[in-house]
Amino acid sequence: MTVDLTNVFQQIDGDFDNLKELLREAVAIQSVSGDPSKRDETIHMIHWMKEKLEQIGTTCELADLGTQELEGKTVKLPPVLLGTLGTDSAKKTLLVYGHLDVQPAAKSDGWDTEPFELVEKDGKLFGRGSSDDKGPVLCWLHAIRAAQKNNIELPVNIKFCFEGMEESGSVGLPELLEREKDRFLAGVDFVCISDSYWLGTKKPCLTYGLRGICSFFVEVTGIKQDLHSGVFGGVIHEPLQDLMWVMAQLTTVDNRIRIPGLYDQVAPLSAAEEKTYDDIEFDVTEFRESVGASKLPTEDKKTLLLRRWREPSLAFHGIEGAFYGPGEKTVIPSKVIGKFSIRIVPDMDPETVNRLTVEYLNKVWAERGSPNTFKPRPGHSAKPWVVDVNDSNFLAGARAMKRVHGVEPDRIREGCSIPITLTFQELTGKSVLLLPLGAADDMAHSQNEKNNKWNYVEGVKTLLAYIMELGSA
Ligand code: BES
Ligand code: MN
Ligand code: MN
Repeated sequence: MTVDLTNVFQQIDGDFDNLKELLREAVAIQSVSGDPSKRDETIHMIHWMKEKLEQIGTTCELADLGTQELEGKTVKLPPVLLGTLGTDSAKKTLLVYGHLDVQPAAKSDGWDTEPFELVEKDGKLFGRGSSDDKGPVLCWLHAIRAAQKNNIELPVNIKFCFEGMEESGSVGLPELLEREKDRFLAGVDFVCISDSYWLGTKKPCLTYGLRGICSFFVEVTGIKQDLHSGVFGGVIHEPLQDLMWVMAQLTTVDNRIRIPGLYDQVAPLSAAEEKTYDDIEFDVTEFRESVGASKLPTEDKKTLLLRRWREPSLAFHGIEGAFYGPGEKTVIPSKVIGKFSIRIVPDMDPETVNRLTVEYLNKVWAERGSPNTFKPRPGHSAKPWVVDVNDSNFLAGARAMKRVHGVEPDRIREGCSIPITLTFQELTGKSVLLLPLGAADDMAHSQNEKNNKWNYVEGVKTLLAYIMELGSA
């Protein structure tokens, strides 16, 4: 039996001020997980959400994860919020995951407004976390509130797992979930994560694949302290010169990876899989303009999507120890650490990628012939994730999208990583659906992150429709 949601949807539209106020409160809490000085705020964010979940009748517990070493300090880890709403054994159970921590942000990074103050402008809600991932998490809360207000019985029990360390590698969460396998995770039938984006700005989609990631550090040193470049320039082997040369050997100008053997592990593309790319709606020009580039390494729709979703890529992140401030500084840095990461796809595995990469770095270092000290090492890694789009969870998601947006959603993959997705799948043995609510141009992690007012409101409806559709899944 399908419950008519027309009136509820209208009510949700009319309730925008409350929705916005909730997001304003959440954005104002500076839960930057990577910043030890903001750890108290990150912990506060979890407590704030606990209160909100309790207000809708959820039984909550805070799972303590102990401490962590961060920038030489021992800091408390934010607890994980585990909630249970409904324990009817006649119903199936949905597990919802989301994260309440955010990436760092400062107005001086180039924001037009204060990042931790929610600002509504031209139908957009600007603020750090408005899209990644506080907005979507609040959509769950609102969807359930809307059902309760209208005395609509939810057809499933709901469990919540909200963490505060996602942007910093979900420290401690996989181990906690492992411990909770036969308790909190027992009896879960479906998992849903809303922490990704639409492929464009207009058409909804469901996400069935994510790339994994392997991070690397390359350290070069050789002199005991920074030196004056006039006094010492020309008569020493500079660590930064060595590092830049080594890093430059990793990719071609078209951003293909030069590490031998790396592409060999990529699963071959079948004709049937290739065909699924034909119907996907994707505007290459809009994409190019959204990043502000004059030209891309490829502007063919299919090739571009394949490179984003099912081929590895290598990105450079920075050099620790090198001068980067404004103005001139005539110095030779003594120790520099280059940072880059490789996004990986099926059937690549992190161990092989780490080995091939370190072997290649050592080989080019030998060619360089520098007497400096060279230390390459792998950092965090996560495996890729790809699933079948025809299980009952995905079909419920598709029906929900259709109910709200009137169109069949595209099935897409993502270049990004949400490592915990695979953990949920392996521990529950159940289907994990990635149900994106935000638009492709939300600028997560970047300046002026926003959530469109429309996406936020439709997001509430979509999650409510999805919960209702699970009743017949
Ligand atoms: N929400 C993102 C992941 C994401 C972004 C999925 C865009 C799909 C589209 C998540 O918060 C994130 O930033 N993940 C990190 C994980 C990393 C720290 C292991 C990422 O992908 O860089
Ligand atoms: Mn996220
Ligand atoms: Mn993120």
